[in-house]
Amino acid sequence: MEIVIRESHQSAVNLTADIIANALRKRPDVVLGLATGRTMEALYAELARRHREEGLDFSKATTFNLDEYIGLPPEDPNSYRYYMKTHLFDRVNINPDRTHLPDGMAKNIEAECALYEQRIKSAGGIDLQLLGIGRSGHIGFNEPLSALFSRTRPKALAPWTIQQNAPLFPDPSLMPRRAITMGVGTILEAGRCLMLATGDEKAEVVAKSAEGPMTAMLSATALQLHPQCTVIVDEEAGARLTNREYYDWVFENEPEWEPYR
Ligand code: GLP
Repeated sequence: MEIVIRESHQSAVNLTADIIANALRKRPDVVLGLATGRTMEALYAELARRHREEGLDFSKATTFNLDEYIGLPPEDPNSYRYYMKTHLFDRVNINPDRTHLPDGMAKNIEAECALYEQRIKSAGGIDLQLLGIGRSGHIGFNEPLSALFSRTRPKALAPWTIQQNAPLFPDPSLMPRRAITMGVGTILEAGRCLMLATGDEKAEVVAKSAEGPMTAMLSATALQLHPQCTVIVDEEAGARLTNREYYDWVFENEPEWEPYR
């Protein structure tokens, strides 16, 4: 794992966008794993800007989102399909047929989960998986006790996740209690994992995920197993990291980061 601490929210977003843009330029038919949440809004705005102003090309890319609420149709403004459409898909030149999210309205949820795994496999696997982090340390909706080898499946949302996301619903009581999420094992199979976390409310969970012991109680700690995982934080989200000087040293010395120093 590498941890990069940027001085501002926007520079953390820009570096994350740079890595995604480089992946798209290197391989236009890249398979991207995508995330939702408030953190990603600024990132998708930046990617949309690069498409508009710099011609960043999504036309051959394929995407798989981490998760979707069970019981929300795609046209529901609180569904993750709707989120992706408004924040990214409608703002870049991606082929909608190559954008995938689990179907939260599927009659047979178990079959939908198996199919989602199959689709990822048929696409050749995810090259670059973007991740946010919930305040409870979840990636996707892998709530505490999610097996570190888990696959795509339905998950009951934890009370604190419901509390965190319910204000986004016009009536908080309408927030679904369950979601389909890629498993921790599914996420760990991506070629590269890229986490973006910003703001002081993420400081504690970022420190625990990167520096704490690995535990199923905090699914983001499983990223310590991944051979190529980059965690990008702003000063606020990085504030509780204890080995900050070391991470800065790696950033200053690894040739990979030279263009960004
Ligand atoms: C939801 C999503 C996660 C996301 C998290 C953080 O729970 N399932 O994938 O990382 O929210 O959201 P925010 O960026 O709003 O803090």
